[in-house]
Amino acid sequence: MVEFSLPPNSRPQPGRTWPAKGEPKRPKRFRIYRYDPESGQNPRIDTYVIDLDDCGPMVLDALIKIKNEIDPSLTFRRSCREGVCGSCSMNIGGENTLACTRAIRDVPGDEVTVYPLPHMPVIKDLVVDLSHFWEQYESIEPWLKTYTPPPDRERLQSPEERAKLDGLWECILCACCSTACPSYWWNSDRYLGPAILLQAYRWIADSRDEATGERLDQLEDPFKLYRCHTIFNCTQTCPKGLNPAKAIAEIKKLIAERTL
Ligand code: SF4
Ligand code: SF4
Ligand code: FES
Repeated sequence: MVEFSLPPNSRPQPGRTWPAKGEPKRPKRFRIYRYDPESGQNPRIDTYVIDLDDCGPMVLDALIKIKNEIDPSLTFRRSCREGVCGSCSMNIGGENTLACTRAIRDVPGDEVTVYPLPHMPVIKDLVVDLSHFWEQYESIEPWLKTYTPPPDRERLQSPEERAKLDGLWECILCACCSTACPSYWWNSDRYLGPAILLQAYRWIADSRDEATGERLDQLEDPFKLYRCHTIFNCTQTCPKGLNPAKAIAEIKKLIAERTL
């Protein structure tokens, strides 16, 4: 049997337990992944206790509280704090999701574990390097491509044509799905992963786009598209309730249909 082991310097070590501020009436423990590449140390898991009676309801509220009041060195991304920018994606209670829309009370277990998105290089603490993800996004040319002369006014769509974009335009590129996909973990150098493929389908499905054939040619590749083995982790984890696995199936269907 093949055995995999982690490099010794990647194993998280027990970290520091930070004392609670004052006497919390409703204490809640947060166990948070910490990593500073400049320290030369292994990652560690720090424990913080906060008072739920003195904190907003979301995991992001707790992280901000910890940073503001207990440990200013805790590093994470966030911007909109309402589930539209995709910055605060991380692994909470074992699930990839958005810290700003995940309620603390909905995290299963007595304590809240917070890790960076899995299988991504960690820059610091909860911040991962998404450079390759964004390069893959750029590779699908995510903009409207047209070859016919521009009309006098805008390119119109019927309500039915517009409805075909529902379930696609809502994607905020948080990468929760791609980093939950085992095929992406092992082949992200060549497999585009569910987020980028959903975005690719968003343009293929757009009635105004005139590059469908070209886009399908680009995706018809054993690695870019066909590493999806329909495991559905992506759809299960999407914090926006989208279905990337279905979008991938639609692309495969269009490619199959045009060869008939
Ligand atoms: S499909 Fe969902 S999980 Fe994937 S990037 Fe888009 S919003 Fe995030
Ligand atoms: S359905 Fe495809 S893209 Fe989604 S998790 Fe499974 S292999 Fe990955
Ligand atoms: S802060 Fe924007 S999605 Fe969470």
